[in-house]
Amino acid sequence: MASIELNRVSKTYPGGVRAVKEATLAFRDGEFIVLVGPSGCGKSTLLRMIAGLEGISGGTVSIGGRVVNDLPPKDRDVAMVFQNYALYPHMTVRRNMSFGLLRRRRHGGPVAWLARSQARREELAQIDRTVEETAATLGITALLDRLPRALSGGQRQRVALGRALVRDPAVFLFDEPLSNLDARLRIEMRAEIREMHRRTKATMVYVTHDQEEAMTLADRMVVMRDGVVQQAGTPAECYGRPANRFVAGFVGMPVMNFVDATAAAGGLVAPSLGTGTVLALPPGRWPTIPAGPATLGVRPDRVRVSAQPAPGALQAEVRAIEALGDRMDVVLSVGSARMVARVENDARLREGERAWAGIDLADAHLFEAGGDGDACRRIADRDD
Ligand SMILES: Nc1ncnc2c1ncn2[C@@H]1O[C@H](COP(=O)(O)OP(=O)(O)O)[C@@H](O)[C@H]1O
Ligand SMILES: [Mg+2]
Repeated sequence: MASIELNRVSKTYPGGVRAVKEATLAFRDGEFIVLVGPSGCGKSTLLRMIAGLEGISGGTVSIGGRVVNDLPPKDRDVAMVFQNYALYPHMTVRRNMSFGLLRRRRHGGPVAWLARSQARREELAQIDRTVEETAATLGITALLDRLPRALSGGQRQRVALGRALVRDPAVFLFDEPLSNLDARLRIEMRAEIREMHRRTKATMVYVTHDQEEAMTLADRMVVMRDGVVQQAGTPAECYGRPANRFVAGFVGMPVMNFVDATAAAGGLVAPSLGTGTVLALPPGRWPTIPAGPATLGVRPDRVRVSAQPAPGALQAEVRAIEALGDRMDVVLSVGSARMVARVENDARLREGERAWAGIDLADAHLFEAGGDGDACRRIADRDD
């Protein structure tokens, strides 16, 4: 079991790419951490520095209270699972799973001699039992004597998980392990990985670009952008109190609606929603908003839409409707702004026709104005 501390960890690749910039994070023993962010933001680089597969340009990485900067991967008590499985193609599943264990024991002395000894035989039997028990929990017993090429993608990924599990490491590191699988299998495997976490109680660090995967798996998620940590928090914190506009737009689907506005006494002036539009601030909320430009953020499920005029609602036009079974996403033009609303099915709403959009500021967020950058910090939201 192990905690992980990163203290101002940076990575500059030869050629000058600064892939990770001064990441300072602490992961508790047994936590399930998800590193999430768009492609190229430095997730894999950070994970590989924890694993020891990538040199550290600055700062320190500690595992279990010990600085491991100069420790080779095999001495860090970590197991890594990759997107492309990385199974040995010429070895059976059984051998792929036991290989790491066998190799670890060989340092001690001449292999041939050991193999003949009673101790060695017992050890091999123990490894066999471990492999078979792990295979049983993953439902791959029937595959043990097959070669990787005779397996489906999902089966290969199970074998890769099994290979990490049998080593019983203090830390599991996953780099987009489910990205090659189809959507349904991905959801099934997510549940298995959660279960694996519950059983092993190991520290797990999991990389994905998929915010939904991050939300469903993480105890805490670390949102990254351009090599910089934007926010580390529970999925509920990152969703409910995003640190800046980037996190707000990255976490949650459909994406949060953003509207340029100007904060004034008692209201938000938002001409992009229609000339003269002023959204009244709910009394008692947001008492300390500085007057001036700001960006309003409203989640799609907080936009009410009706086919009839409603008190306080803004006139809009329905651009498109995406049916989702019991609900639908309605793409609206409101003034010059585009907004997405997620609402209950409503047959009275039709593409190309008028509608009315109600924005509830009691459920909205407010960010510093200016582009979509991470500099646009949260000013206030419903919890303040
Ligand atoms: N071996 C490398 N040499 C040079 N640049 C690299 C190398 N690996 C990754 N990079 C660059 O570092 C940045 C972060 O990459 P990476 O950690 O793979 O991001 P992610 O996993 O979030 O997609 C990217 O700009 C990428 O092009
Ligand atoms: Mg990556």
